[in-house]
Amino acid sequence: TWRMDDFAENTVKALREKIGDGKVLLALSGGVDSSVAAGLLAKAVGKNLTCVFVDHGLLRKDEGDEVEAVFGPSGQFDLNFIRVNAQERYYKKLAGVTEPEQKRKIIGEEFIRVFEEEAKKIGAVDYLAQGTIYPDVVESGLGGESATIKSHHNVGGLPEFVDFKEIVEPLRDLFKDEVRKVGLHLGIPEKLVFRQPFPGPGLGIRIIGEVTAEKVKIVQDADAIYREEIDNAGLNKTIGQYFAALTNMRSVGVMGDERTYDYAIALRAVNTVDFMTADAAEIPFEVLKKVTNRIVNEVDHVNRVFYDITSKPPGTIEME
Ligand code: XMP
Repeated sequence: TWRMDDFAENTVKALREKIGDGKVLLALSGGVDSSVAAGLLAKAVGKNLTCVFVDHGLLRKDEGDEVEAVFGPSGQFDLNFIRVNAQERYYKKLAGVTEPEQKRKIIGEEFIRVFEEEAKKIGAVDYLAQGTIYPDVVESGLGGESATIKSHHNVGGLPEFVDFKEIVEPLRDLFKDEVRKVGLHLGIPEKLVFRQPFPGPGLGIRIIGEVTAEKVKIVQDADAIYREEIDNAGLNKTIGQYFAALTNMRSVGVMGDERTYDYAIALRAVNTVDFMTADAAEIPFEVLKKVTNRIVNEVDHVNRVFYDITSKPPGTIEME
């Protein structure tokens, strides 16, 4: 850990010397990499750093507020934080769209558009900062193999339209576990530092078929219960990635004396070394039953829960 403490201190110093009074712009996704990059830059140049955080309405439950609590005006860092609440805009664009690649494309393009508008308001900046880490450098990260199967959007991969002189990538030499250590050193909350990978298109690709505000709420609530129970069972650091997805399937059930016709949630949990291949995680049945009971009882419009035990390949980790 001392090595990463040194890294953090030295990097803050080096960034301060390099950037001086320059202006820096960073797209903050709320993921580990962009958050740690933001923390280092905030320590180095304070208000000369502007972070733009786009809430596309496809984040996990309460995630937007969690990011704002850390990086916003009442958080621990001194920086310029802009949160764009673009939920309605995204839902409008996504209305009626069911094809996975088209959904990804719309979400990615809309991000560029929102970010571009904000960048225009800010005007010329000297530096564009990115949370690129070493694995991204060597093989453009997760995009390697799966890019050909699904188009991946990373908030990292920005943009020609911002008027800037130079790119700053303070995490370029670090592996993920090192980035996390730096994050802890900077005082970024564990919840954020140990956040699992979350796809750029967010819940948009965890809702099979058309995305609506109602469906986003369903999958957010189910996913929050799932994560809470995994935490309660002490399993959160033993599973590579886990999440709830909303199948586009409805089926018949019974609640009290009433017949129901509601959605089915799919639970996914995988262990993986490099996200190119993955195996289903063997979550204890008791935990799965508890999660299932809570989801069907607490989440409106859900009357059935499935557990996905497909490995990758032939499945992918996400469902779209
Ligand atoms: P798949 O579904 O391709 O996912 O097996 C492999 C890993 O990549 C994540 N993923 C994404 N990450 N932008 C990202 O930054 C994307 O568009 C995207 N799609 C999938 C997925 O969560 C898993 O960790």
